[in-house]
Parts: sequence; C-alpha cells; structure tokens
Amino acid sequence: MLNQVEELASKALDELAKVTNVNEIEAWRIRYLGRKSNLIHILRSLATVPINERREVGARANELKKSLETAFEEKKVDLESDSALLTGRETLDVTLPGQQIPLGRLHPTTQILEEICDIFSSMGFQVVEGPEVEWDYYNFEALNMPADHPARDMFATLWVDFETKTGDRPMLLRTHTSPVQIRVMEKTPPPIRIIAPGRVYRYEATDATHEWMFYQVEGLAVDRNITLADLKGTLFEFARRLFGEDRKCRFRCDYFPFVEPGVEVAIDCLVCHGAGCRLCDNSGWIEILGAGMVHPEVLRRLGIDPQIYSGFAFGMGVERIPILRYGIDDIRLFYGNDLRFLKQF
Ligand code: DAH
Repeated sequence: MLNQVEELASKALDELAKVTNVNEIEAWRIRYLGRKSNLIHILRSLATVPINERREVGARANELKKSLETAFEEKKVDLESDSALLTGRETLDVTLPGQQIPLGRLHPTTQILEEICDIFSSMGFQVVEGPEVEWDYYNFEALNMPADHPARDMFATLWVDFETKTGDRPMLLRTHTSPVQIRVMEKTPPPIRIIAPGRVYRYEATDATHEWMFYQVEGLAVDRNITLADLKGTLFEFARRLFGEDRKCRFRCDYFPFVEPGVEVAIDCLVCHGAGCRLCDNSGWIEILGAGMVHPEVLRRLGIDPQIYSGFAFGMGVERIPILRYGIDDIRLFYGNDLRFLKQF
C-alpha cells in the first residue's frame, strides 16, 4: 500500500511538470485529486488497511494530498499570469522597445581639436598648453610687437587689471596662441616640435562671424635646417588629412610681425573645388591659417642663435573648420549652449 502511494507521488509530480496550459491543469487535478482519483480512494479505504500499516499509509497519503494541492495552486498561478500576458490583460508588454537613455557627446570644438591633435601627434608634434591670462610680454613684446607697434591693432585686446595690480607689467587675455611659442622656446632648447591648442579672446562685438572667445591651434618647429619647404610639406599633409586626399593648398605672402617671410595658407574650396561658389566668395579658395618662418629677431631674443637654427610657425582658428565642413552659418551657435545645435554632432 505504501509503495502505491509513493508511486502515485512521483507520477503526479512528473505529469504536473509537463502541464503547459490552464485546461491541462484542471484535467490533472481531476486525475490526481478528484473524487474518483486513486489518492482519494486510498484515503477513503484506510479503514480496510491492516492496522499495522494504517498509521504510516494514512500519514503519507495525507501528506501527499497536501503537497499535491500546494503544487497545483502554484502551477495554476504561474500559468494564469503567463496567459494574462499573452491575452493582453496585463499591462506589461515585453515586446515594446525600451526607453532611450540620452547619451552625452563631445562638443564639436572638442571633437575637431582631438582630430587636429591626432594628425600633428602622428607627425611627431607634442601637445602643450599655455595660460589664457597672459603677460603683454608673451602676447606682444616677445613676438616682435613692442608697445605702440601698429600690428597690435590686428588684435583687439581685453586687458586685465591694467596698471593696478601688475604695475608696469600689463596683463591681458591672450589674443592668440602664439605666446605659447615664446614660453616653449624660453624653456626648451631645439629641436622643438609642438602644437598648442586653446582659447583666445578678442575685444569685439559679436555677430555671425565674430566671437569674443574662440579657439586656435598654434604650431612651432625649430631645428637646424628647417626651411619654408618643411612648413609647406607639413601644412599640405595636414590639410589633406583633415579636408580630404585631393585637397590643393595655396601659399601666399602675408604679414605677421613674428615671422619672416609670413604666409597665408588656403585650400581649394570644398564645395566647388576651385571653380567659385558662395562658400568661397567666388574665389575658389578658402583661407585656413597664417604661418611663416620664425623671425630671426624672435629667436635671438630667446637665446636661440638664428645663424644655427631656424623654425616655422603657424596658427589657425578652430571653429572655422566645422563651420566649413558642416555649413554652419553663425559662430555664436558654438558657445550658446543650445542643445538643439549641439546634439547634431
Ligand atoms: N597669431 C596669428 C593670429 O592670431 C596667427 C599666426 C600667423 C600664427 C602666423 C603664427 C604665424 O604662428 O606664424 O592671427
């Protein structure tokens, strides 16, 4: 009799495990717990079991009945919640797409700065930085622009604490990254190969093409036998990596007090490739930077002998690059913090 109960137990649980829907589970309940089931029959006929077995069989059969009832209830709850999901009675729809978590991104200026630094790093230039609040000496004086030099007019300057705290050493917000050249040459003997990215400031009313704060990247190479050909080769390679393999470069004379000769570098227009269009003002060319051979006077003042060493330098505006690339029509968008603009990059 006891064996019969044990057999029943394992068979019932095996079958319950195979049940997959609400109809099957009712059939299972009738089969194992219904009025005509073996288990109920055993329980009813306990009186006929020999007295020595009765206690044990009775206890085990009752225990089994309880555990089958519990198993039945649990299984039923499982099946019902599954079918509720399938028939849509429950509100959780596992097939719906998840909520999008907005990802942060780098500012367009940061992205282009990284690109520029990568290109020059791969050519052996080291990235250095200098202060944004600068002495007149580094921003002008040491760059061959003594007080009253007319070229200072090229740089509308924001002065800091003029004549109060700094006495006769005027301070300013640097108007270009060129002072970093001086700081590097002052400390490092040649050979030098650096670029210096950073913010610069101009005392200027803002409009679509002017900001009072923007970014520049400066470059400087000083060594024996550096020539204008090295400058041309380096900048040509840079332009092709940044603006495309088929880029042409144009070098023309220009004037900057700290270089001799000075040049202005242009690339053929990205849109019309030289034919003339709106982007390039019908000229076919787009100016991207100023450059030149470091003025011998600049080298000499820093204790670098211009008879032995020569160098080239260049400086470029950074925002101009995404402006050209993406056709952005207002430089003020860069630092206006409007997410509708920033999210596009
Ligand atoms: N500093 C100049 C500017 O802001 C750009 C420049 C021109 C930098 C010639 C140079 C250079 O290093 O050689 O307009």
